[in-house]
Amino acid sequence: MTEEEAGTPSSYRPPLTRRRTRATVRGMSLAYSGGKNYTIKRHGMDKFWHGYLASVPVKRFVDVFCGGGAVSAHIAQTRPDLALVCNDLHPAAIAVLRGASQEGFVPPATLPEAEFDVLRARAAMGEMSPLIGFAGFGCTHGSVYFSGYARPHKSQRDKSAAAAVSLVRDAQHLARADFHNLDYTALPNVVGVRPGDVWYADKPYEGTTGYKGVPKFDHPRFWRWAVELSEIVPVLVSEFAAPAGWRKIWSCTRKLESRGGTREDCVFVADRT
Ligand SMILES: C[S@@+](CC[C@H](N)C(=O)[O-])C[C@H]1O[C@@H](n2cnc3c(N)ncnc32)[C@H](O)[C@@H]1O
Repeated sequence: MTEEEAGTPSSYRPPLTRRRTRATVRGMSLAYSGGKNYTIKRHGMDKFWHGYLASVPVKRFVDVFCGGGAVSAHIAQTRPDLALVCNDLHPAAIAVLRGASQEGFVPPATLPEAEFDVLRARAAMGEMSPLIGFAGFGCTHGSVYFSGYARPHKSQRDKSAAAAVSLVRDAQHLARADFHNLDYTALPNVVGVRPGDVWYADKPYEGTTGYKGVPKFDHPRFWRWAVELSEIVPVLVSEFAAPAGWRKIWSCTRKLESRGGTREDCVFVADRT
């Protein structure tokens, strides 16, 4: 399964050069299927966040579907003045991010396949830990949760080593984040909805495969929730398309490896925002 099939169309792969291998690209967070790593660093989403957050009176950024933490880590790094909430329903995503940033989890420099197999079996038995989250996302093909061990090849990076480097780098920025492992609908009651909030929803994209480890995503239910919340605070939604009543405020176009062609990846806000 490609990243695009599992989440956002992040199938863009920058060319590897002798000077800059994937393992050493700076500013990347934990690889995550559908993660915004490349959208931020290669498609200009960093500039979008800079401009948008400078244009509104924001005090707190709520990353409703934080996944691998790419957006949260970027905001935490570039806007240290903002409070930050990071939520995701996937327990492994929160376990590894919270573990590395607040609980002293240090990812292994590399994770051999035999150890990966043990961790996968433990996860299947219902166990959860930062190491299981690290193995499940950081060391797999397409960063799809326990999809299969990404074996290092001579010409490629050691994926687990690269994941460890990225995670350690991000962890320092996420030390002040308020982590939650909730369905998005439960989040407003738990963290409150305040003046000065910006809520960002990088939801599972419609028409993509979804996420192993969380229930199938109900898109109409999400849009009803987002419309209601938008009446109180700005809600920004990443998707290919939005229903009537939402307008596009940013987009980038990327190539899709799996299907060929390109797709527009957008950020929407409610018209009345
Ligand atoms: C597109 S990904 C987010 C990627 C993230 N922004 C990043 O850059 O790594 C969508 C996320 O939604 C989460 N998710 C799916 N259903 C959810 C729900 N009902 N409540 C909260 N999170 C959910 C998935 O676990 C997944 O991490």
